[in-house]
Amino acid sequence: MSVVSFSPKPVSTSVAAIASQAFEVRPFSGAVGAEIIGLDLSRPINDRDFARVHRAHLDHHVVVFRDQRITPEQQIAFSRRFGVLQIHVLKQFLLAGHPEILIVSNIIENGQSIGLGDAGKFWHSDLSYKELPSLGSMLHAQELPSEGGDTLFADMHKAWDSLPEALRKAVKGRSAAHSYTARYSESKFEGNWRPTLTPEQLAQVAEVVHPIVRTHPENGRKALFVSEGFTTRIVGLPEDESKQLLDELYAHSVQPQNIYRHQWQAHDLVFWDNRSLIHLAAGCPSHLRRKLYRTTIQGDAPF
Ligand code: SIN
Repeated sequence: MSVVSFSPKPVSTSVAAIASQAFEVRPFSGAVGAEIIGLDLSRPINDRDFARVHRAHLDHHVVVFRDQRITPEQQIAFSRRFGVLQIHVLKQFLLAGHPEILIVSNIIENGQSIGLGDAGKFWHSDLSYKELPSLGSMLHAQELPSEGGDTLFADMHKAWDSLPEALRKAVKGRSAAHSYTARYSESKFEGNWRPTLTPEQLAQVAEVVHPIVRTHPENGRKALFVSEGFTTRIVGLPEDESKQLLDELYAHSVQPQNIYRHQWQAHDLVFWDNRSLIHLAAGCPSHLRRKLYRTTIQGDAPF
């Protein structure tokens, strides 16, 4: 795999002086993803260990840290090692005192949703509707249902690498529009509540245009960059042609051989690369409680 750049962010000297932890990166047997065993994210991570995590993230696109007993502050601090954090437009669902954390939850308390209950109900790449979409996202399990609640990840590098020639030609040089409101009001999971967006919120999520095929700025590989969740149209094509082409790209992207299905375990922290993957929340029975904390790291403008 070619590597264009790999430059973990430097940390303060006090953190750089700390001892390495003994941990292993175990790739999953399937399409994508790896488990990181033995790294305790509640302890400071030195530059060498951080570089290994960064490398694993680039190589495997989604990494799973098991049994992480970390606080929101520690999740935020670890996320910040990778870049600037993005604050979600739905202020209602940000963790009190920690706006860097979006609560993803189907739990209703006193008649109010405590979090975004149907986050990820359609395949998407986080914040692709922004000029600077997310580099990656971290989701830390707080409360898990006894049944369901899986998260699926599809490898968009493999989607591009295996794209039939006719589709490659059809998308060559083209861009697509992305919008947060594309499917905002469409319900998929029972009982979830979505607030009406204020004019200020709508202004924060104005439509943007990105190339359909992007180059990952760190691993140098090409990836398809469209998704049913946020992509609305292909620029310059009549509506019916745009819809047909997008539907073909979506169907091609989520073939089973390119998917990792994450079945959550208590205290998992999952960190994925939004430049390489799209993801989907499979949902769980509405009477079961599910709560996770998400941080989102800002990436570059896609090219
Ligand atoms: C998300 O799309 O960020 C949430 C995924 C999930 O809840 O499994």
